Amino acid sequence: MEFAKRMERLGTETAFSVLAKANALEARGREIIHLEIGEPDFDTPSHIVEAGCRALRGGETHYTPTAGIPGLRAAIAAEVARTRGIAVDPAQVVVTPGGKPIMFFAILALVNEGDEVLIPNPSFPIYESMVNFVGGRPVFVPLLQENAFRFDLDEFRAKLGARTTMVILNSPANPTGGVLTPEDIAELAGILRERPDVFVLSDEIYSRMLYESPFASIASEPDLGPDGRTIILDGFSKTYAMTGWRLGYGVMPVPLAEQMTKLQVNSNSCTNAAAQYAGLEALAGPQDSVDRMLFEFRARRDLIASGLNELPGVECLIPQGAFYAFPRIAGHPADALADLLLEEAGVACLSGTAFGHCGEGHLRFSYANTRENISRALERMGEVLSQTATRQT
Ligand SMILES: Cc1ncc(COP(=O)(O)O)c(C=O)c1O
Repeated sequence: MEFAKRMERLGTETAFSVLAKANALEARGREIIHLEIGEPDFDTPSHIVEAGCRALRGGETHYTPTAGIPGLRAAIAAEVARTRGIAVDPAQVVVTPGGKPIMFFAILALVNEGDEVLIPNPSFPIYESMVNFVGGRPVFVPLLQENAFRFDLDEFRAKLGARTTMVILNSPANPTGGVLTPEDIAELAGILRERPDVFVLSDEIYSRMLYESPFASIASEPDLGPDGRTIILDGFSKTYAMTGWRLGYGVMPVPLAEQMTKLQVNSNSCTNAAAQYAGLEALAGPQDSVDRMLFEFRARRDLIASGLNELPGVECLIPQGAFYAFPRIAGHPADALADLLLEEAGVACLSGTAFGHCGEGHLRFSYANTRENISRALERMGEVLSQTATRQT
């Protein structure tokens, strides 16, 4: 079968293929500990599930307005206004099936062939995939362990070129667990103010998952709000353990919201009606489940980071946000090591290279699994790494 040429430029998200490989091993009787996929292992809080069921029973089984039901757009506008300290009009909000379509739509709507887009490396692989897909040119800005996975801001500035159309930010970050500090944000804003022609896609899907410092958004900076040229991507998948509902949103300038709505009408028509009502309840209802999940994630973070640091050849920074650890592991190419750990330790994780070339030498562990399983995974990895260290000496 012959596909359109553009399909050759489309990448993928390795987490899903590793999950399939791990599932195939399980089907053959192996016991696998899943630390590969980036989704909370908690169930969606029951009051949110109930709101979704109530909506279905109440007849909310039809198409909704393309950009989302008015009540949800208004609730999102109020939430983003409150958490970022800015004014947001519901007309700036586009509700989508998950946060992912916002990156797809923003890049489709704003990046021309040959345009450059600054992308952190390592980072979520779909950014690069989409930029390549539309014929743009990804320009990578390294996030290195030596620099606590923060940008070298001189390098960031140097990479902004005449053809730069967009920069992508992601804090707290997948896969590193790093965050942009308020100082980083202020400096980045200073750099970006010199380039008012550049759009900013700020992926804030982990905005509620921080362990040390409060959340800081570029969109809170003067001249960089979503009324000008910043697109905030956020959603319900991670914060409310709602990955399977597919519910996310973007907040952006109104003319761009209209273009994104056009892209949505050409693809999904709208977001699932019941999921939108569940999202309304998530925002309006009690937030104690979010706090409980964060409390548990913090305990797991401490467990996995200290456990990894005790393994031979492993060095792991304490993640500041999200639910990923991104240790450096000496002496192994990352792809081979991820395979080895799956085959020999029964631990599924991702090679750092799944997130870009700067991920070489690292593995990504999602600690969205129980403390018991994390401890067992650490034990099993310790055995395999000690054996390979012995074989190498
Ligand atoms: C950085 C980042 N952005 C966006 C998403 C997409 O989230 P959703 O499931 O809401 O589409 C993910 C999911 O893993 C992510 O890690």
